[in-house]
Amino acid sequence: MTSDADFIRGLPKAELHLHIEGSLEPEQMFEFARRNRITLPFASVEAVRAAYAFSNLQDFLDIYYQGAGVLMTEQDFHDLAMAYFRRVAGDGARHVELFFDPQTHTDRGLPFSVAADGLLSGMAEAARTLGVTSKLILCFLRHLDEDAAFVTLRAAAPYLDRIAAVGLDSSEIGHPPSKFAKIYAAARDRGLKLVAHAGEEGPPAYVWEALDVLRVDRIDHGNRALEDPALVRRLAAEGMTLTVCPLSNLKLCVVDDLTLHPLKAMLQLGLHATINSDDPAYFGGYLAQNWVSTAGALGLTREDLATLARNSFTGSFLTPQEIAPHLAAIEAYVAA
Ligand code: ADE
Ligand code: ZN
Repeated sequence: MTSDADFIRGLPKAELHLHIEGSLEPEQMFEFARRNRITLPFASVEAVRAAYAFSNLQDFLDIYYQGAGVLMTEQDFHDLAMAYFRRVAGDGARHVELFFDPQTHTDRGLPFSVAADGLLSGMAEAARTLGVTSKLILCFLRHLDEDAAFVTLRAAAPYLDRIAAVGLDSSEIGHPPSKFAKIYAAARDRGLKLVAHAGEEGPPAYVWEALDVLRVDRIDHGNRALEDPALVRRLAAEGMTLTVCPLSNLKLCVVDDLTLHPLKAMLQLGLHATINSDDPAYFGGYLAQNWVSTAGALGLTREDLATLARNSFTGSFLTPQEIAPHLAAIEAYVAA
């Protein structure tokens, strides 16, 4: 029998929770800083990596927003996306739904178009040259107010035919989903799909709000939903996809040890969980590493792995016609 790592790499899969700014490797950070004539507050790549010791989400966000400051041109965003797509193609990904944080860039003075055009051209090149398809998700920063989200949605107007969904990220505690009720209604009126980070650090009440107030199509993370049995029943009954990020949870101290991660329990409870990398350059592993580490820590079976692979496509925003061949490829792979 092939090793779990080989089995996982070959298994057709999708990534549904990836912040493209979180794929910025320290080497690339220095390269972009050099070509944009930006001085970094770090002496070396090693010094950057040494700074990646986080006690919680906010610790990480502070350094993540600082890192994103080296991204200045369309070419930077294109190159960032292509570097990520090359890695994830090697991990057996066939489809990716990636987040970007436009406010992180417009607040530094970049036009909305710089990040959007650079990422979209990278996505087109990845489809052409690597066979990895993708969709773009515009995230609102929840530590900012809802008016700022409306400014961003207006700036995105010329791009809405190429943006699949809106999301909600950044500092969760103190910024409940209900703060963004109006912008989510506006995004829904424009035909966009809806996702939101909820239950990463925030309480089950935030997951309820994401469902009932924002009316999301997917929950990003959702770990703390397991504290509320009624919420678990609701998520299972609706077949709601959870985009779970095990190595992120470990690095941000959402779990103390990967053996204590709730992913296996989620599957046993009938929840539609998926495995994702979140911010792989910061959390110690891309998509396949998340699968391999989690499978090892939790003793996931081949059947669990096949379920996770199916969930990654059925939870995507691809059409049923687009999903069907991916599911068939999984069945063929598992049978072989
Ligand atoms: N932005 C990037 N990664 C994030 C995460 N894990 N949670 C919230 N916001 C984020
Ligand atoms: Zn995230």
